[in-house]
Parts: sequence; structure tokens; C-alpha cells
Amino acid sequence: MRKYRKTEHIENFLRSTYVGDPLFSDIFLYNDSLPEINYDEIDTSLNFLNKKVKFPLMINAMTGGSDLSEEINRSLANVAAEYDLPMAVGSQTIALEDKDSRKSFEIVREIIKDGIVISNLSGFASTEDAKLAVDLLRADAIQIHLNPAQELVQVEGERNFCGILNNIEKIVNTSEVPVIVKEVGFGMSQKTVKKLHDVGVEYVDISGYGGSNFFEIENLREPNADISDLFSWGIPTALSLIETKKLDYDDMHLIASGGIKTSVDIVKSLCLGADMTAISGEILSYIVRGGYEYTLRYIDGLMEKTKMLMMLNGAKNISELQKVDYKVTGKLRELLED
Ligand code: FNR
Repeated sequence: MRKYRKTEHIENFLRSTYVGDPLFSDIFLYNDSLPEINYDEIDTSLNFLNKKVKFPLMINAMTGGSDLSEEINRSLANVAAEYDLPMAVGSQTIALEDKDSRKSFEIVREIIKDGIVISNLSGFASTEDAKLAVDLLRADAIQIHLNPAQELVQVEGERNFCGILNNIEKIVNTSEVPVIVKEVGFGMSQKTVKKLHDVGVEYVDISGYGGSNFFEIENLREPNADISDLFSWGIPTALSLIETKKLDYDDMHLIASGGIKTSVDIVKSLCLGADMTAISGEILSYIVRGGYEYTLRYIDGLMEKTKMLMMLNGAKNISELQKVDYKVTGKLRELLED
């Protein structure tokens, strides 16, 4: 059942057509005509999860568990290894239940070797499951995904979300690696992030609205249950990021995902205070539709153009980029008004 669901998620994602808006277009950045920077000295590296990475982008959680997943994870891991990008695997629940499915996840660590690999489980996972998921991959961190919106529209999905925060606290207190709590494309509110911080969570991926849309992906599995009226639900990535950044926690690392496709999205996320950015859907499209070489060209382009935009923002490294001025316009500005 779970195995088929994995394949359906990938196929339905590729069939999806709804276009949301993460609202990055409402962020305005200023062109610097006097950058006083040598392009060759622009430094895009940063520390993430106690390792140095060359570029502020990771491949976010998607898959594992089926033959198709194994093939996709192999390609994604090769891209990650080529550029030293951190990579999260999809939910490992299936690997806990079915030993035969483990290979489709373990292949990621085999390929990435010394780079950053991140485990993934749901908020219902026990502390023992979390440990096993990490051990299977010698993972550098574990993502715990929060997806009530997605579960509610799955016929077989969960309906009782009581006790998840408490469970996350237990995982945080027992895990030997950092715990990243993430959404799956519906965005996190300031209130949610505050609750997570209160139980000791130091890494949050707000995974906002505007990219892959799990209401549509699930609706394609159950076309008779028309939920298209829900497709616009979610907190746009730019809004979720600005509001959570306002909490101003020194010990909180923010990861921006949800609708990130271009270097402009990456740069704007960092300007809004993100410490890392992440892509799922767009890279899956490139891999499946364009193939490996084409995906490498896409990542090359992201890296080159991010450097150009850093130069044009007058920032020679990531911490300078995180401090540049920006203006908020349009709908995003309206949403930020009290
Ligand atoms: C996902 N995502 C996801 N997230 C997670 O925590 N565990 C998972 O198993 C999956 N599976 C998954 C499958 C597919 C096919 C897609 C497209 C996505 C959610 C993903 O990590 C991310 O949060 C959202 O997709 C939003 O980012 P993008 O796709 O807009 O870049």
C-alpha cells in the first residue's frame, strides 16, 4: 500500500498543473551599481549541521521505498554528491516496516559518502524509530514532517493529531543528531514555530505554499473526491519566512522551502533571513523529464546566477546577503499589516 502511494505521489506530482504563488515576487531588492567585489572571490559556502557546504541549497525530502524511488534517489544523490549539496530522503516509515525497501534509502548514503544526508519520519515516530532511521543512513540529522493538511485528504490518512508536539520533544531530547521539523508545502505559522522552539527544536523548514501542492497530488489519487476548492490553502513561503524570522531566536536555524525554483527565489529567501534553502518538486521534474545531465546544467545555472545576484546586492558572502535591505510590496505587504 505504502509502496504504491510513493509511486503515485511521484506520478501525480508530475501530472499536477495547479500553480500557487510563494509570493517571492513581492520582495524587491536593490541593484548595487558600486559593489566593490571581485566576482571570483564571492563565497557561497556556509556551515550547516556542523559541516561546511559550498552552496546554500539542499535537495529536500521526497522518496524511497519503491523501485521507482530507488532509481530517483540514485539520481538525486548523484546530483547532491556532484555539488556537495545536503540531501534529505523521503519518509522512512516504509523502511522500518519492510527491510527489503531499505536499499532504496541506503543508496543515498552509499553515493553521498561524507556529505550531509538527512533522515525523514513523521511526527508520530517513536524515539526508537527515529534512532533506527538515523542509524540506517548514518544521517547527519533527522527531519520530522508535519502534514495534517495532507493526511486529512488521504482516505487512509491520520485524523488524530494529538500528542505530536510532546512526541517531538521526546525525539529532540533523545536524538543524537539535530532534529529538523518541516512542513510539506502548507507553510508554518509564527505560532507553530514558537511551540516547536519551546520544546527545544532548533531547526525548522517552514516549507511554505506556492510550490508542490499536496492537495492536488492527493486529489489526483482520488479524483472522485473533488477538493480543488482547497488548492489555495497554505501560508506562502515568503510570508511564513518573514513572520518566523520576526521571532528573532538566536538558536533557531530557518530553512526555506516551498516553491523555490530559481536563483532569485534562493537569494530572496536568504535576504529574508533563511539559513538554508531547499528544493523538491523542481529538481524532481528536471531529473525525470530532462535527465541527469540536464539537471546538472540546472544546478550550474542556479549557482552562477546566485553569485551574480550576490554581486548585484553588494554581498560577497552569505552572511552579508542575509543583511541586505529589501522592500515588501503587493499582497505580501498587505498580509504583513497588523
Ligand atoms: C514530498 N515532500 C515530502 N516531505 C517529507 O517530509 N517527506 C516525504 O516523504 C515527502 N514526499 C514528497 C514526495 C513528492 C513527490 C514531493 C513533490 C514532495 C514534501 C517536500 O519535501 C517539500 O516540503 C514540498 O514539496 C515543498 O517543496 P517544493 O516541492 O515546492 O520545492
